[in-house]
Amino acid sequence: MFASCRVIENERLGEGLVRLLIDAPEFAAQAKPGQFAMLRSWQEMEPYLPRPISLNQIDPEKGRIGFVIRVKGAGTERLARCRPGDYIQVHGPLGNGFPVLEHAGCVALVGRGVGAAPLRPLAEAYAARGCEIRAYLSARSEALLPDWDFYGSLGAKAVFSSDPTKKVTQELAADCLRMNFDAVYSCGSMRLAKDIRLLQKQYGFAAYLSLEARMACGVGACKGCVCRTVSEDGVSSYIRVCSEGPVLPLERIVE
Ligand SMILES: Cc1cc2nc3c(=O)[nH]c(=O)nc-3n(C[C@H](O)[C@H](O)[C@H](O)COP(=O)(O)OP(=O)(O)OC[C@H]3O[C@@H](n4cnc5c(N)ncnc54)[C@H](O)[C@@H]3O)c2cc1C
Ligand code: FES
Repeated sequence: MFASCRVIENERLGEGLVRLLIDAPEFAAQAKPGQFAMLRSWQEMEPYLPRPISLNQIDPEKGRIGFVIRVKGAGTERLARCRPGDYIQVHGPLGNGFPVLEHAGCVALVGRGVGAAPLRPLAEAYAARGCEIRAYLSARSEALLPDWDFYGSLGAKAVFSSDPTKKVTQELAADCLRMNFDAVYSCGSMRLAKDIRLLQKQYGFAAYLSLEARMACGVGACKGCVCRTVSEDGVSSYIRVCSEGPVLPLERIVE
């Protein structure tokens, strides 16, 4: 869907971090956790391309979609400046989202900073199924982590670390000793993904990672977002993160 959507809310979450809520009923009716949209809020030629942003809130009842935006450069700075009543161009929902496993009894969500944004709708999907959820979250400070307090409202247990010497995957490893995770989901950080892959080999849970790459078209046409992956028998292949991802089974990304 290509549409011009009205901004309903711009909430400042922390330094350089905002949540944008847009009115997009058609989009919200189709969207799935882990998908993203290409967003553009400016009329000028520069920045030339729209920017890929994950779906942080999917509300089909109210017809709303939420994004959390961390200001990095010109595109995200312009998006973060949008005010209620402004219109932004939205292309999406795009990509393959997180698989929600039918019979999962317990899942873990691992994210760092704004990379944790796509985990919120996934947590909601699992909470609606009565699944036990553990969230392992980290950021340089609590203010840079969206939704830190949200997991508690779902009845999930959330662990947070801002200590650079202590990775949240250490907490996950400790919990793996006494809990049976059906699946572990993570976003963005390859550092965390490598730790999760080691635990996956040991404990055999399903694991999925949402990849990040620079994107131009967002739909598989330009090949600007290609990334190397591995098959089960160790053969390399290249995928377009936008159309074949951004979510992939972890074993296809981390050897
Ligand atoms: C599928 C997907 C989902 C994303 N979801 C979110 C989200 O929910 N919230 C959010 O704030 N950001 C998200 N991003 C990252 C966001 O798209 C980039 O930060 C943004 O495109 C940067 O544009 P800019 O014009 O602000 O900065 P630019 O001026 O383009 O770049 C500024 C700096 O950021 C680096 N950079 C730009 N894009 C990326 C990228 N994709 N990965 C790593 N480094 C990058 C550049 O190398 C440069 O150093 C996502 C990216 C992808 C691919
Ligand atoms: S961004 Fe064009 S192929 Fe992925």
